[in-house]
Amino acid sequence: MEQKLRELEQDALQKIQNAENLKELNDVRVAYLGKKGPITEVLRGMGKLSAEERPKMGALVNVVREKITAEIEAKQGELEEKAIAEKLAKETIDVTLPGRPVQLGNHHPLTKIVEEIEDLFISMGYEIAEGPEVETDYYNFEALNLPKGHPARDMQDSFYITEEILMRTHTSPVQARTMEKNQGKGPVKIICPGKVYRRDSDDATHSHQFTQIEGLVIDRNIRLSDLKGTLNVFAKKIFGEEREIRLRPSFFPFTEPSVEMDISCKMCGGSGCNVCKGTGWIEILGAGMVHPNVLEMAGYDSNEYTGFAFGMGPERIAMLKYGIEDIRHFYTNDIRLLKQFAVHEE
Ligand code: DAH
Repeated sequence: MEQKLRELEQDALQKIQNAENLKELNDVRVAYLGKKGPITEVLRGMGKLSAEERPKMGALVNVVREKITAEIEAKQGELEEKAIAEKLAKETIDVTLPGRPVQLGNHHPLTKIVEEIEDLFISMGYEIAEGPEVETDYYNFEALNLPKGHPARDMQDSFYITEEILMRTHTSPVQARTMEKNQGKGPVKIICPGKVYRRDSDDATHSHQFTQIEGLVIDRNIRLSDLKGTLNVFAKKIFGEEREIRLRPSFFPFTEPSVEMDISCKMCGGSGCNVCKGTGWIEILGAGMVHPNVLEMAGYDSNEYTGFAFGMGPERIAMLKYGIEDIRHFYTNDIRLLKQFAVHEE
């Protein structure tokens, strides 16, 4: 029996030495030390031995088992180190390889124009105001001198949610909200950029959702000449110093008098072309002096305070400035269009 154990030990040690990887080593462990292995078998057979031989054999089995266990552990350490070394060798990084270019995103042309206009007005002392896109009939119409049934409401086909709640059709309600918050006291100088909604069928110049930027200045002694001066600065800064502006009489229920501002056509310099439809002028925005009713409804004394307001569509401005022909391009996110504006700002 002793002889058999010695052979077994030799065998096992040989196999441990030969194991090339951790799996093979584990197979050896299971084969020799496992429940069905030869050592367990020897232990089972001990019952048949004499009382003298039994402790001797027991001790020997333990020595053999410990030897095999120790060898397996040593070999395991060795194989693990080898595996790590192999993995490291395989994963070596070639730092001399050229890098892959990082794809950078950039601002949407509409975001760019809105930010440009915001920056301009901020530089003139305006603050940015915001209001809800889901608006009440009161702020969207009534507080702007458009009572229920007023025919001018038809100019802005609306998405109503209930009788009294709708998707705002313009950013003008932010005028009424801001003035009301001031409780009739002190000056206001704001611009409000934001999304607006109309029940229009989408085509090259219409979108059921688009953007507006509203402006409002309220103070003592604000005059139409202040509005004209402000719009002149705006037109020159956004469209170029050589642009001229002209104000045409118009009608908006919330302003009196009301005007529309045109800029001289950049394409033909004013002589007339197909961009300006032969007129030499391009319509840019609506504006006017805040109607006394609007001031009074918001709590301002219209004998003490006056103001001007304007409203513009940045999509239209971006279309003119960048030569984009279809308003739907702003919303379809065609990467080919967006890439044309891929100037990376810091
Ligand atoms: N709210 C008008 C619209 O959506 C635009 C507008 C015109 C706003 C004149 C104004 C203004 O503040 O004074 O058609």
